[in-house]
Amino acid sequence: MKRLWLVAGACLAPILLAVALIGSRQAPEDEGDTGMAEQGELSQPIQFPHDTHAGQWLIDCQYCHFSAERSVDAGIPPVATCIGCHREGAISGRNNPAEVLKVREYHDSGTPIPWRRIYKVSDHVNFPHFRHVAAGVECQTCHGEVQEMGVLTEMDPAAGNLKMGWCVSCHLERGASRDCTVCHY
Ligand code: HEC
Ligand code: HEC
Ligand code: HEC
Ligand code: HEC
Ligand code: HEC
Repeated sequence: MKRLWLVAGACLAPILLAVALIGSRQAPEDEGDTGMAEQGELSQPIQFPHDTHAGQWLIDCQYCHFSAERSVDAGIPPVATCIGCHREGAISGRNNPAEVLKVREYHDSGTPIPWRRIYKVSDHVNFPHFRHVAAGVECQTCHGEVQEMGVLTEMDPAAGNLKMGWCVSCHLERGASRDCTVCHY
């Protein structure tokens, strides 16, 4: 028992330090997010509907989030992926053509779309998407029924809160590692 605590203590010290440093650095960023969220549907630069793409038109999650199965990040698709379908003369979006015009403007001016990030863990946490995809954990388990959602503005509270207890309880349930060092740098 004593040895376990020594090990936990040795893991904890650098982490606490990292948390303290990161905590002070991230505060202003969080306030910015809250400000944006109050603008409701304007919180994303383009009103991109997941339900239309992944629900109605059945485009696979990984057609756009193509790095999920091979890298730590699932990734947000570049505007080039959108233009494949939305270039001039192709799909102009019956329900919201003004938003599709914006996609073309970003593409023509070579500007990346400044999507606002929704799911994010602290910098001291390692979350590898590919390990979860390989183990057969569905996107929906952690992100909810995205194919039924319109414009994403916030985390799905029913799916998970991204806190340590949430990660660890699933790892316990599915027999995945609970070593401090697999999740913490
Ligand atoms: C046609 C491309 C496309 C498809 C298909 C797609 N997505 Fe996305 N996804 C995006 C774009 C663009 C964003 C960034 C804008 C936003 O947050 O809505 C995004 C954002 C997300 C986010 C939020 C990321 C963050 O933290 O900011 C999640 C979670 C997500 N997608 C999951 C899914 C899942 C699950 C599916 C399949 C059911 C899916 N996506 C299908 C393009 C796509
Ligand atoms: C594989 C083809 C495909 C890709 C890739 C794709 N879309 Fe679409 N998009 C569609 C279809 C189909 C529609 C619905 C068209 C309609 O109903 O007229 C649509 C509609 C839209 C609309 C209008 C909303 C609506 O309901 O009419 C927006 C905005 C949009 N897409 C943005 C994007 C963005 C941003 C990306 C890149 C992240 C993207 N699309 C990638 C096929 C695609
Ligand atoms: C076990 C839970 C879990 C599963 C399964 C999962 N995600 Fe995630 N996702 C997360 C967490 C946690 C984050 C935040 C990661 C970070 O900040 O490094 C995230 C972030 C994202 C993001 C934001 C951008 C990025 O690259 O991190 C997108 C997009 C996303 N997930 C899409 C998906 C898609 C698509 C799938 C299915 C192929 C999927 N996720 C499966 C938990 C999960
Ligand atoms: C819904 C279940 C679930 C949730 C939630 C979950 N994980 Fe996992 N995780 C798994 C499974 C299953 C594996 C794969 C284990 C394997 O490959 O043997 C895994 C593997 C991992 C690995 C690789 C472990 C190793 O042995 O190298 C890391 C790191 C990890 N998860 C971090 C996280 C973090 C951080 C969170 C929370 C932000 C999280 N996970 C949330 C189910 C989950
Ligand atoms: C399965 C992944 C996982 C494992 C295993 C894990 N952690 Fe964490 N830990 C997290 C996540 C996720 C957070 C929350 C980060 C955030 O809020 O963004 C966190 C946060 C923390 C924090 C900051 C305080 C807090 O609660 O936010 C400390 C300290 C910490 N972990 C220590 C440990 C120690 C010590 C161990 C081993 C006994 C451990 N962790 C094992 C994922 C994990």
